[in-house]
Amino acid sequence: MKTHGPTLKKLVLSYALVGALAFGALPAAMPTAEAGSPLVTTAAAAAVSGQDQKIIKRVEAARAIEHVRYLSEEIGPRVGGLEGEKIAADYIAAEFSKLGFEVEYQPFPVADQYVGAAAFSDGTVWDMGAAPNGKISNESVSGEVIYVEGGLDAADFPADTQGKIVLLTREASTSAYRSQVANAIDAGAAGVILQSVNGSRGNYGSTFNPNLTTAADVPVFGAAFIQGEWLKDQLAEGAVNLDLTAVHHTDLESLNVIATKKAKNKKAGDSEVLLTAHMDSVLGAPGANDNASGVGLMLEVARVVKSYNTDKDLKFVAFGSEERGLLGARHYVDQLSQPERDRIDGVFNADMVATSYDKATHLYAMTVDGSENLVTDASLAAGARLGNSDIQAGRFGSSDHVPFHNAGIPAALFIWMGIDSWDPLVYHIEKVYHTPQDTIEDNISEERMQSALEVIGAGVFDVVRKQTPGNKR
Ligand code: BES
Ligand code: ZN
Repeated sequence: MKTHGPTLKKLVLSYALVGALAFGALPAAMPTAEAGSPLVTTAAAAAVSGQDQKIIKRVEAARAIEHVRYLSEEIGPRVGGLEGEKIAADYIAAEFSKLGFEVEYQPFPVADQYVGAAAFSDGTVWDMGAAPNGKISNESVSGEVIYVEGGLDAADFPADTQGKIVLLTREASTSAYRSQVANAIDAGAAGVILQSVNGSRGNYGSTFNPNLTTAADVPVFGAAFIQGEWLKDQLAEGAVNLDLTAVHHTDLESLNVIATKKAKNKKAGDSEVLLTAHMDSVLGAPGANDNASGVGLMLEVARVVKSYNTDKDLKFVAFGSEERGLLGARHYVDQLSQPERDRIDGVFNADMVATSYDKATHLYAMTVDGSENLVTDASLAAGARLGNSDIQAGRFGSSDHVPFHNAGIPAALFIWMGIDSWDPLVYHIEKVYHTPQDTIEDNISEERMQSALEVIGAGVFDVVRKQTPGNKR
């Protein structure tokens, strides 16, 4: 885990303030430990409430990261509808049950998946995307791997390509990589692995399902950038043999896991607040930050709030198949009646809440249209009371808050990123996003998890304890 000097400094200062308040030394203004620190101005307006303290004194990043470890290391990739996601759902359900919450599974169907497996002689297996109309078989295709530079020209392939598994650097356009594949097959390749270079968000390439127009009778796989680099590293050491198999998974079911904490008394009226996080990841990615981090945060906030009474129902939802098109959240919203939608005061959606990436400078509370709502107001106000200058408001879609927003329900996405400008949007997220490198070691910061736990935890607890203007009531 990387550490972050500046964030750590802010945290220490906020702890110092909490300590001062706990001992009754209520300062008229924030301590000016660091002259000129932006923290002083941000937090001057408000003070940590007793209610905030119930949360911030107890949430522990290390506990949240233990869930991240289980999900990303013990389970690993958790593709919507496949085994890893189911095991994650069972783990999350068991954790909520241990805490004493009522837990429910909400299944829904998802489309087929084509998964390729590249197995090394030492037993190591890497998952990649398989082309649906390449060879799909559990009867393995074995061969020595060769890396061929280019591939758009038939002459790029050496005379001994016959029977080899050809690794190519994927051309960006679909039509160009189709030519690379066709040329490799013409040259006699027994299998083709296309190394993806760039992702769509400035990240390294992810695994992908190659889209071929003509059916091929050899396996054709889409590898993540790092898998291609690792393969090339191994080739530099000596011959590498791979066994390629591919599976077409059909009749898939994904699911959401819902845990409920009932209000003690409904003096705020009959309404509920949701804290949500998707549990799935993309193929080949352990998804430590995206989004075991959000699940870990949700479970840790649940552990702390379980001991307190609330005036509104509080639901925790782990969504399935977010990476496949926000499917879990869409299903969740679709099956709600209008009165049920109206009862939701706000949705706090945690997605990528603990990256260690340097350029991810703030924790954003993002709404789809950039407007403020109960969720952004509550979390920014919590940040101000806590003297936490990490939290900022912003505008972004691309996560499970979108279906709620589309149904008129106040919702926001919490995500660490860096933003240089809003118009045009120039932002930074970690390069390891959606890759096999989204691991605790390379992409999780304990300090940032702690900051997110405190701000989101205090924001959620504030709204479930308060008579806040409801959604449509
Ligand atoms: N956590 C991401 C969303 C994200 C990434 C937001 C980077 C902002 C910056 C999420 O899991 C994701 O990847 N979403 C998909 C959504 C799509 C499948 C509808 C995406 O953005 O590609
Ligand atoms: Zn995500």
